[in-house]
Amino acid sequence: MIRPVLRYGEQVLHQAAAPITEITPDIQQLIDDMVQTMYAAPGIGLAATQVGVPLRIFVADVSGGHNPGDLVTFINPEVVEVDGTQYEDEGCLSVPGFNATMARPARAVVKGLARNGREQVIEGTGLLARCLQHEMDHLDGTLFVDRLRGLQKDLIVRRIRKLSRSGKW
Ligand code: NI
Repeated sequence: MIRPVLRYGEQVLHQAAAPITEITPDIQQLIDDMVQTMYAAPGIGLAATQVGVPLRIFVADVSGGHNPGDLVTFINPEVVEVDGTQYEDEGCLSVPGFNATMARPARAVVKGLARNGREQVIEGTGLLARCLQHEMDHLDGTLFVDRLRGLQKDLIVRRIRKLSRSGKW
């Protein structure tokens, strides 16, 4: 089932999510829904907080569904290693219509549980590294807009407030 994606300003997006203690059928269903919602958007990553569930789960597929082997599901993930720097454009399904060039580590190693509950370690470079770190941020209540500074941030926040006031957000 495709679930509605919450937008910047919704409280659950701005709070840290809680770890999962047991992978129940409800959690499996949530993951299936998140994958379906991500592909439908279309997007390359989606965190549970974005569908209003404050739990530490995200899904990602930098191929956008073109390579079945690229689908990544993480439960209780943690970043164990980062290095280098990359500057690329970044956006978010919860901040539609906006993007910004921002710095991220060029490489990231993330450890956590896979959908079947087994431990997995995934190393990403380039877009995957960026995506993994963007989704990790979501689980801590941080959106890419929160990482911007100064005018760039003010401009986006002001435009979102304006859209909210006119009921277009
Ligand atoms: Ni996002």
